[in-house]
Amino acid sequence: MSDEKKSSRRGISRRSFIKGFGGGVISTATLANTGLLSRELAESFAGTSSEGIAGKTRVTLDVNGRKVSVEVEPRTTLLRALRDVAGLTGSKEVCDRGQCGACTVLADGKPVLSCMTLALDATSSKITTIEGVQADPVGKKVQEKFVEKDGAMCGYCTPGFVVSATALLRENPTPSADEIRQGVSGNLCRCGTYPKVFEAIAAAAKKA
Ligand code: FES
Ligand code: FES
Repeated sequence: MSDEKKSSRRGISRRSFIKGFGGGVISTATLANTGLLSRELAESFAGTSSEGIAGKTRVTLDVNGRKVSVEVEPRTTLLRALRDVAGLTGSKEVCDRGQCGACTVLADGKPVLSCMTLALDATSSKITTIEGVQADPVGKKVQEKFVEKDGAMCGYCTPGFVVSATALLRENPTPSADEIRQGVSGNLCRCGTYPKVFEAIAAAAKKA
């Protein structure tokens, strides 16, 4: 069954949804019930207008153990806030759509894609970027092993791999080869340095 027909069975067609959304405000319930958006996304969209998302707000982010005051719009991603506002350019913007992992940072120790996280949603988390991982002995060791094992070519993917590997080794200090691959499976390398990357993480695991 086509998406159009599925949506129509829920009482709203994709065409009417788009027309309605473009024409004004739709309730959260209506948006979520269409099945076209998750409830979380529906809640973030419902009641907003173009004027509503234009303003800037000053917020404080906790980045690498420092309080960083940034002025952001509600639509500003954590990645853009880190790179453009806070000047922390180590996290890379490659796909900007959650597919490559180059923008990976830690939020309360867990890897997150900063291009898919709103800056406003990150204000209550402790953020660690590639600039901050060396403060952790595990992160420092991962960085050293990437250098020693020649785990980078162009280097665009490397910050994301190092951050993901640091999170992996903190949680599992002695991962198997499969667990290493799984642990960084959200990170893509266009240059194909995977063997060296896996080797570097395995070497860091032995010393972590
Ligand atoms: S830049 Fe964020 S996943 Fe690719
Ligand atoms: S080293 Fe170039 S994308 Fe990974």
